[in-house]
Amino acid sequence: MITRTFFLFLAKNQFVKDKATKWGPKFGAKSVIAGETIEEAMETVRKLNEKGLSATVDHLGEFVYTKEEAEDAADYCLRTLDAIESSGVDCNLSLKLTQLGLDVDRGLCMNNMRMILDRAQSYNNFVRIDMEDYSHLEPTLSVLQELRETYTNVGTAIQGYLYRAEQDIDALKGTNVRLIKGAYNEPPEVAYQDADEVYKNYLNMIKRHLQNGSYGAVATHDHNIIAEVKEFAEKEGIPKDQLEFQMLYGFRSELQEEIAQEGYKMRVYVPFGNDWYGYFMRRLAERPQNITFAVRGLLSK
Ligand code: FDA
Repeated sequence: MITRTFFLFLAKNQFVKDKATKWGPKFGAKSVIAGETIEEAMETVRKLNEKGLSATVDHLGEFVYTKEEAEDAADYCLRTLDAIESSGVDCNLSLKLTQLGLDVDRGLCMNNMRMILDRAQSYNNFVRIDMEDYSHLEPTLSVLQELRETYTNVGTAIQGYLYRAEQDIDALKGTNVRLIKGAYNEPPEVAYQDADEVYKNYLNMIKRHLQNGSYGAVATHDHNIIAEVKEFAEKEGIPKDQLEFQMLYGFRSELQEEIAQEGYKMRVYVPFGNDWYGYFMRRLAERPQNITFAVRGLLSK
């Protein structure tokens, strides 16, 4: 789809990114990003908790090219974990391995992850590794596998648009996995292109993971998937505490609260920070209707 490709192109365009970032999170990004500082993020999480919603925070930032940038990002993760602990909110941490230097030096990324997981463990908290584009899938799974030899408080996300999703899910038996459709523009060599096929593969992957007895975080705004997962879990006797639902901050807020009221854990993914541009463009790519946010933001300035 041209619109999706267009927004994914913008997500990677450095010139447009520099201009937009200088203007700050306008164009609607404000409604889906919880401010630029840790304090603003904690305030947002506190408000979500008051509504019965759990959270995961993500300090936005993706492309890191130097050791120093990776160490800065790791330090930010540590400070975020400290802030979660000191504010006493119900919240864990999401991060991307490229932020922590995966493309610079695997050893550097691994050291950063160990530091972060040690800190999280001392607070009895959990860290989720977001899944990035296909070129990072194998490196991410390999880092996770190595970390899992020492840590239990770490998981990742698997994308249902990939043909290999079910194999990866089987290999992650016993791991807390976020189950998603996938947000990147992947070629037909590796991923389903047709929405119905993605839907089917995604649902199969979720069922498989739950049937394997593993904890699953079903991250989708798709009410049909949510209904099918609830029905499946009830039929199969999968307890409510073996799964959670997740949605992004600023999307389908009423549905989020409804799900929490039904007794499921509902976790909201709360992105924050000044590197909001790529995240925002990917959300527009997924659902061009989200551009309403952008226009509204522009008008309300
Ligand atoms: P999708 O966009 O396919 O929409 C399906 C249907 O749901 C729509 O037709 C509509 O009926 C309804 N719907 C969707 N959005 C709506 C809205 N805003 N308002 C009303 N109705 C709506 N991706 C990735 O590659 N790596 C990652 O680590 C993550 N992490 C992640 C965390 C969390 C918490 C979430 C929710 C998502 C991700 N993603 C992700 C993104 C994910 O892969 C996927 O691209 C998006 O969630 C979009 O797919 P959905 O299944 O949400 O609905």
